[in-house]
Amino acid sequence: MTKGFPKGFLWGGATAANQLEGGYGEGGKGLNLADVLPGGKARLELLGQTGFDFEIDKSKYSYPNHEGIDFYHRYKEDIALFAEMGFKTYRMSIAWSRIFPKGDELEPNEEGLAFYDRVFDELHKHGIEPLVTIAHYETPLHLIKEYGGWRNRKLVEFFDRYVETIFTRYKDKVKYWLTFNEINGATHMPLLGLGFSPESEETRLQDSFQGLHHQFVASARAVKLGHKLISGSQIGCMLIYAPVYSYDSKPENVMHAQEESNIFNYLCGDVQVRGEYPYFAKRYFKENNVELNIQEGDLETIKEGTVDFISFSYYMSRTDKLEKTPEEMGHGNLIGGVKNPFLQASDWGWEIDPVGLRISLNELYGRYQKPLMVVENGLGAYDEVEEDGSVKDDYRIDYLRSHIEQMAEAVEDGVDLIGYTSWGCIDLVSASSGQYSKRYGFIYVDKHDDGSGTMERSRKKSFFWYKDVISSNGENL
Ligand code: BG6
Repeated sequence: MTKGFPKGFLWGGATAANQLEGGYGEGGKGLNLADVLPGGKARLELLGQTGFDFEIDKSKYSYPNHEGIDFYHRYKEDIALFAEMGFKTYRMSIAWSRIFPKGDELEPNEEGLAFYDRVFDELHKHGIEPLVTIAHYETPLHLIKEYGGWRNRKLVEFFDRYVETIFTRYKDKVKYWLTFNEINGATHMPLLGLGFSPESEETRLQDSFQGLHHQFVASARAVKLGHKLISGSQIGCMLIYAPVYSYDSKPENVMHAQEESNIFNYLCGDVQVRGEYPYFAKRYFKENNVELNIQEGDLETIKEGTVDFISFSYYMSRTDKLEKTPEEMGHGNLIGGVKNPFLQASDWGWEIDPVGLRISLNELYGRYQKPLMVVENGLGAYDEVEEDGSVKDDYRIDYLRSHIEQMAEAVEDGVDLIGYTSWGCIDLVSASSGQYSKRYGFIYVDKHDDGSGTMERSRKKSFFWYKDVISSNGENL
């Protein structure tokens, strides 16, 4: 028997501009990071490297984000399908380089602004509330190459201008905003979140935390400005969350798990939600030779610009111990750790742990007592199209059902959960592997890793299942 979700619960789906829009070079858009990331397995290898080479031999690779799934031209059809499922909200991002093609201009690109006007109008026509991520792994390329990404304080100023532009333009159309996608993933893959590739392992942490400090300031300034400009605005942070389990009950391993969780799960959240660096940051920074350049007024800004709610992605938990061998290691969404003997993994090695979601919700709510929203969760899987054109993705339904059940448990525990947007509600390009074949959607898109496909959309079995979940407010699972 499922426990109830609150009235007005925000059911929906999530995407990011660079993974679905396509429209490469159209409407005056400038290049951004995703435009230069190759597709296929090469992406993960290149992303993990130090010293990413932006001048790689492009003829050797494909660039699927250039085409995405052509949402740029097909958004009306796609939004109509979201509406058919009954979406209350749709999480999307604005591509910064559509608004400021290089990132450092003084005037925005009107064509880019007009595109999102059309998208928001279409959503409202169907009664769907937009939930907009301001920065989702798509830093304008010019800011990366000329300024060195978020290591450079100048990006705060450029981001300010971008934020003020979109807040002013969309203040009557968008109430829910998220500042930086998975902000705490930055130290693992700085290129994605911070727009720079570390020169060496020695400089990774110093540069990442300096970049993060700039993002904390930029995020806090955005929160303050949003509250001023947009009546009724709700501005959240966005974390990648994975509860850290100790591999066993050896106290040293338990301590290690707690330390990992503090740094990975809570450091960024504490700054954005509580408005100050946590007590444990001092020792961690000292032991890792991180010296932050904090300018006068930064800490006050951070204190004044705390978020209204906490959103996070949840795909898996993480299990860890102090001493581990390479054979014991698992795979994950920017997250290291050892394999958990109690869990099965997806085709990409991401361990499936629905109870971990209830644990996460309780940990986050216990710490912050602010409304929570799960803005990413889902199963990346290979789908097969049957002769009659259907996709029977029962594995995806099982995954989502088991996670939603645990959310219901958390609500019953007393957690203030306000919404759920499953990731990749329509098939799109994977962020880490650049594949089309890693599918998350309720909507199948006929597009393949070799570049073939008609881009036609069709409803998977999970489409009808999710529609029923939403219309029953989570009763029928
Ligand atoms: C999150 C990102 O980390 O995970 C998304 O915010 C991403 O952009 C999602 O797509 C799933 O990861 P992947 O690599 O399977 O696309």
